[in-house]
Amino acid sequence: MSKLINLISMGAGEVAPEDIKAYQQIGGFEALKKAMSMSPAQIVEEVKAAKLLGRGGAAFPLGIKWEHLLHIEGEPKYIVCNADEGEPGTFKDRFVLRQVPLRLFEGIAIAGYVFNSPKAYIYLRGEYRDLKEKLLSIIDKAKSAGFLGKNILGSNYSLEIEIISGAGAYICGENSALLNSTEGKVGRPRIKPPHLAEVGLFQMPTLVNNVESLAAIPEILLLGGQRYLELGHPDSGGSKLISLAGHCLQRGIYEIPLGRLTLRDIIFDPELGGGIADGKKLKFFHLGGQSGAIGHPDQLDTVYSYTDLRAAGLSVGSGAVVVMDESVSILEYLKAVNEFFIHESCGKCVPCREGNRQIHKILDRLLIPGAATRTDLATLRRLIDTMTAASFCGLGQTAAVAISTAWKHFKSEFEANVVDGPEHYKLAVG
Ligand SMILES: Cc1cc2nc3c(=O)[nH]c(=O)nc-3n(C[C@H](O)[C@H](O)[C@H](O)COP(=O)(O)O)c2cc1C
Ligand code: SF4
Repeated sequence: MSKLINLISMGAGEVAPEDIKAYQQIGGFEALKKAMSMSPAQIVEEVKAAKLLGRGGAAFPLGIKWEHLLHIEGEPKYIVCNADEGEPGTFKDRFVLRQVPLRLFEGIAIAGYVFNSPKAYIYLRGEYRDLKEKLLSIIDKAKSAGFLGKNILGSNYSLEIEIISGAGAYICGENSALLNSTEGKVGRPRIKPPHLAEVGLFQMPTLVNNVESLAAIPEILLLGGQRYLELGHPDSGGSKLISLAGHCLQRGIYEIPLGRLTLRDIIFDPELGGGIADGKKLKFFHLGGQSGAIGHPDQLDTVYSYTDLRAAGLSVGSGAVVVMDESVSILEYLKAVNEFFIHESCGKCVPCREGNRQIHKILDRLLIPGAATRTDLATLRRLIDTMTAASFCGLGQTAAVAISTAWKHFKSEFEANVVDGPEHYKLAVG
């Protein structure tokens, strides 16, 4: 029996992305029809029962977010689909946009109907600009077929979708920076509260959801929230798209049921990663994106679910699984991660803007025999703690997660080149 599941990926590679009739033959737009026979509150109840956790990385329960927005006064309410996908090692939203865009549009139309939204925006990663024209032409086809645009399915409800191109900034994936960028402002995060559900796009109540989250909605409605939940983990229903990258043999996108497979299955099973290339050994894996935790081969038997990974000090995040073999220096790898954050820090706050740069200097010294002292390690610890606690947004708060988790697993590599310095180290690191 296959270890994989196809809820979001159903029809991928078999149904042409723009073929509306073929999409309908595999059940496409049935969920929209069903939704439009239900009340918005009933739809929200199904999403809540499914226990779908936001697939953009923060894992916030979708049902709770939708219920909150439903009760907020003010019109129009906007739908914003986060297709920024700037996370290195993550390419699952691109898979949805390329292979099954009609499922995403159906999910957006259902969300639009729930909140009576006249307009939805897709904020598309700048580097995915080749997809924009194609997506626009599929939207036009769906409009002609009555599934988007004016009077959807003959009802009084109408929805326009606009695609906004990002310009290649990772911070614009953060939901409030994304709204600023959509409004034509500099893409920097907003202070919260007020929450975006209350004061969002153009100051109006707004729903921001990830591509994969919205593409999961049709199947939730078709199966029913309870059945969708049962296909996954009791705390988080359904499936997750995994972006498998790095040194495993079979890199790519896999849709897996949550709570059924272990990390070992994902990396080594012949149906998934197929093991490490060139007969080398696994050294570590990096989960959930650059801001996620580094895992050690000792953790391979951890079940891939939000709950189990969290208990092991790991996280699902964006669904990235970057696999690294024994030839990789952990410090060199962390330096590359840190350089990404230096590049992508928006510069608004000191802990992130300066902290990342100071960390870079220490990582540099740790790589040179005799160049770093134990005081450097103590300073590194303090920088990590300060950035985590004092950065303005999620980027700075999580930029050092990879370093602090790798430090636990590879202490000897961190200390290999260090010479004795003042006693601060003992106080800070223990
Ligand atoms: C620095 C940063 C970058 C982010 N990038 C993305 C992104 O590319 N795509 C995404 O969906 N969410 C991203 N997020 C999370 C969003 O802020 C937000 O939680 C998400 O779009 C909500 O959708 P969901 O609940 O469906 O996951 C990012 C967050 C931070 C702090
Ligand atoms: S944490 Fe970094 S990305 Fe976020 S506001 Fe501060 S400088 Fe900008």
